[in-house]
Amino acid sequence: MTTDPGATQDEGARQTPVYYYSSTSGLVRTFAERLDRPVRNLAERQHRLSEVDGPWVLLTPSYKTGNPANDTIPEGVRRFLRSPVNRRALVGVMGSGNRNFGTHYQMACREIAARSGRPVLFEFELAGTPWDVARCREILADLDRALAGAHASTVAG
Ligand SMILES: Cc1cc2nc3c(=O)[nH]c(=O)nc-3n(C[C@H](O)[C@H](O)[C@H](O)COP(=O)(O)O)c2cc1C
Repeated sequence: MTTDPGATQDEGARQTPVYYYSSTSGLVRTFAERLDRPVRNLAERQHRLSEVDGPWVLLTPSYKTGNPANDTIPEGVRRFLRSPVNRRALVGVMGSGNRNFGTHYQMACREIAARSGRPVLFEFELAGTPWDVARCREILADLDRALAGAHASTVAG
C-alpha cells in the first residue's frame, strides 16, 4: 500500500507518520523503528513513489561525498519531495548526522528545512541514544496534539 493512513492513538489524535531515508548501514532505520508510530523508509521504491494522505515529518541523514559540490540530501528524499502533494503536507524535518563532518553537520536536514520554511524538530547523531528516542517521541506526540487541535479549530470554523 502506498498511502497508509497514520495510525490513531487511544485519545483519537492521528499519529503523524515519519518518512525516513536510511542506507544499508541502517542507523536511521534503527532510530525510526523505536518511535512507536507509523514510519516508512524512502529507500523502498513503494514509499519513495507514494503520496501522503496528511501531515508528515521527514527524518533524513546527511551524506556528503568527496566532491565539495556534491549535495548531502539522499536521492530517495529528493525524489519524494518532488511531489507537490508531499511538499505541501510536510510539517517538520528531523536529522541524523555525525559531528565529525563539521560544517556539513546535519546539512540535508537544515537545507530542506530552510528551503521549505518548515522547522527543524529534532537532530541527533548516528542511531541516537535512548534519551534521543524518548525526547523525539515527546516532540512527535506534542506535534500530533497540535495538529489535532488545528484540525478541530478549522472544522469548527
Ligand atoms: C559517506 C558518508 C558521508 C556522510 N556525510 C555526512 C554529512 O555531511 N553530515 C553529517 O552530519 N553526517 C554525515 N554522515 C553521517 C550520517 O548521516 C549518519 O551516520 C547517519 O546516521 C547515517 O544513517 P543511515 O545509516 O541510516 O544511512 C555521513 C556518513 C557517511 C558514511
